[in-house]
Amino acid sequence: MEIIKTVSQLRKFLEDKKDIGCVPTMGNIHDGHLSLVSLAKTKAATVVTTIFINRLQFNQSDDFDRYPRTMEEDFKRLESIGNNVVFCPNELEIYPEGQKYFIDPPRIAKKLEGRFRPGHFRGVCTVVMKLFNVVQPRIAVFGKKDYQQLAIIKGLVEQFSLPITIVSAETVRAKSGLALSSRNRHLSIEELKEAPRLRQAMKNISSAIEAGDRNFVAMEYAAGELLARHGWKVDYVVVRTQAGLHKPTDGDNELVILGAASLGSTRLIDDLEVIGPKSS
Ligand code: PAJ
Repeated sequence: MEIIKTVSQLRKFLEDKKDIGCVPTMGNIHDGHLSLVSLAKTKAATVVTTIFINRLQFNQSDDFDRYPRTMEEDFKRLESIGNNVVFCPNELEIYPEGQKYFIDPPRIAKKLEGRFRPGHFRGVCTVVMKLFNVVQPRIAVFGKKDYQQLAIIKGLVEQFSLPITIVSAETVRAKSGLALSSRNRHLSIEELKEAPRLRQAMKNISSAIEAGDRNFVAMEYAAGELLARHGWKVDYVVVRTQAGLHKPTDGDNELVILGAASLGSTRLIDDLEVIGPKSS
């Protein structure tokens, strides 16, 4: 596996490669990331995994400094599943003069995560555009774990006519149902036991929807209450359309439940797709 730290070295290495897949990450590689790399390997000849903790997408309440940095361990994990190239630039390599040009994403980026993390998706879009320009992949894999991010990246690629196919990957979970995340390491043993309830609350909603219930507001409220009763600070648990993440109206039945809530100082997000019965 090649480990490359500069843009010029990466460009040189990729010069004669025609079929490139890209998996952007911020490192602290876990089985969720590895599943993206494995998926990329089934679709492209050369897979470039990027590891870059992007300061631009963190705001004050986030903790850029607290983000886990486990580079050597990451390399071992990526190598063990046959990843071809790791691109792990330092900050100066990506933002030599500080970034002065930005991608300003549309309204979809202002709601949900965007409301609680202002500027987050502007930072994500800006770095992803940059990584795409450097790697020039034919395909790139993103996880449904970050459902809104995935939707925004798809929009970015479409609106800028980038010749890249965005492939979406299912969320990898622990046995308890908890979605793997680098943030899970901040949970205490007690919190780790409590954490799967976020998914449970979403499953309550999906079961109701599958049974034909359309009273989304009541379901969202009940899920929020359940979590709050167990000590969570809930940012949102909502039902939205899979396409565009809008509030569902009469005919919409391809839905997704999106949630974000904190246990102590650890903020977790998750989502669950659900298809409601077709209205007759
Ligand atoms: P990061 O949080 O490291 O996630 C990298 C990719 O892994 C994302 O596409 C994310 O959705 C996916 N992922 C995370 N947890 C997962 C899980 N449990 N199962 C499957 N996939 C999972 O997302 C980012 O980094 C950054 O915003 C980035 C796109 C790299 C831009 O900086």
